[in-house]
Amino acid sequence: MNMLAKPLERFATNSLEQQWMPFTANREFKNAPRLVTKSEGMYLWNQNGDRLIDACSGLFNVAAGHGRKEIADAVYAQMVQNDYASPFQTSHPTAFAFAAKLTQILPEPFNHVFFTNSGSESIDTALKMAMAYHRARGDGQRIRFVSRERAYHGVNMGGVSLSGMVKNRETFPVVMPNIVMMRHTWSDDELFVRGQPVNGAELANDLQRHCETYGGSTIAAVFVEPVAGSTGTLVPPAGYLERLREICDQHGILLVFDEVITGFGRLGAPFASQKFGVMPDIITMAKALTNGSIPMGAVAASDEIYETVTGAAPENAIEFFHGYTYSGHPAACAAGLATLQIYEDEGLFDRAAEMSDYFLDAIWSLKDLPIVKDLRGIGMMAGVEVHPEPGKPGIRGNALQGKLFWNGAHCKFTGDTAIVAPSLIAEKSHIDEIVDAFRRTLSDV
Ligand SMILES: Cc1ncc(COP(=O)(O)O)c(C=O)c1O
Repeated sequence: MNMLAKPLERFATNSLEQQWMPFTANREFKNAPRLVTKSEGMYLWNQNGDRLIDACSGLFNVAAGHGRKEIADAVYAQMVQNDYASPFQTSHPTAFAFAAKLTQILPEPFNHVFFTNSGSESIDTALKMAMAYHRARGDGQRIRFVSRERAYHGVNMGGVSLSGMVKNRETFPVVMPNIVMMRHTWSDDELFVRGQPVNGAELANDLQRHCETYGGSTIAAVFVEPVAGSTGTLVPPAGYLERLREICDQHGILLVFDEVITGFGRLGAPFASQKFGVMPDIITMAKALTNGSIPMGAVAASDEIYETVTGAAPENAIEFFHGYTYSGHPAACAAGLATLQIYEDEGLFDRAAEMSDYFLDAIWSLKDLPIVKDLRGIGMMAGVEVHPEPGKPGIRGNALQGKLFWNGAHCKFTGDTAIVAPSLIAEKSHIDEIVDAFRRTLSDV
């Protein structure tokens, strides 16, 4: 039988029309496409065969560089051995092996991980874990969640509900109820701050105010990115995360660190929790978990949460009514195992710590450009914010991302801020090349 529902003549060769692209100006893109046709190490190649340096490691996920054969080989071997196993009431050995390896690099008290397929799913999973935990303790009146202005927690309805970015929520007003926002931590009184701002820890008291307004005993959890990433690298003020932890402890509120970007060495430690010395109750992950090779996310729950939720269910009953067809997919777990092996063998988390000063010095060399409004950074991530076009926020950033691409570098802009986060394999020469492409592009506005 002919499968086609439409005449083939309607489909031009190499048509770009049929894909509705995510977070993209579709009409602009399709008029002037920017296609990546090859990737290797620190580089990408576009449809014309030009080489570009990857300044943001894909979408902050390709921490070990592109085209890692070890990962491809592991995925291939897994797929021919066992391509799929239902994760509900059955499983497969690679999922357990990966969970064990992952928990080895997670701080205490994280000894259990739940697999998802993306950062957005990790956020939904973390929301449900928090609800399940409180309910298991007979504390089910905790119906409120606290998030923060400028937060990005993915795009599923849980993440949109927690979102502090207006464009990501104004079209979708039907979100979860009972979510309240703390203020974000960026201030234009303190520009060009490298590392943690000295001022601003008191902004964490917004959580205390919510406890006083709504009752701390009605709040289930607080979600924060330890360094707010997608909004353009907002580093937490010194003492801010510690103060959040303190208030959470006073009121029995769970603290969730969304480490989808900050996990796996980005800050020069395995996780931001270790970098800042503040322990949350739940850690969400994705992105560099598989070096961007196969979609995957994970949520680490503290022992207390895992044991409380599993312990509250009747014996032999399912404890947590949640999961995905592709939770712990064999190919993703094989990719994850190979990825963690690379991070370990190449000491990439330490390498990030060692390279951070050089990287941030290079980024700060852009300070003299009149178009640059602010620079922020920590570890191997930085925000380069440019002055917006008057009355048109985001338009200049979008144009600059395109211009940069044709000037030899790929970098993600959100609004008018470039989020620079190269792979952790970057040599000094790569960092120089990134900053040179930025200088040429930003000098010419
Ligand atoms: C902090 C954070 N949380 C969640 C997400 C969503 O991840 P995904 O796009 O894999 O759903 C992202 C993506 O950038 C993120 O930066």
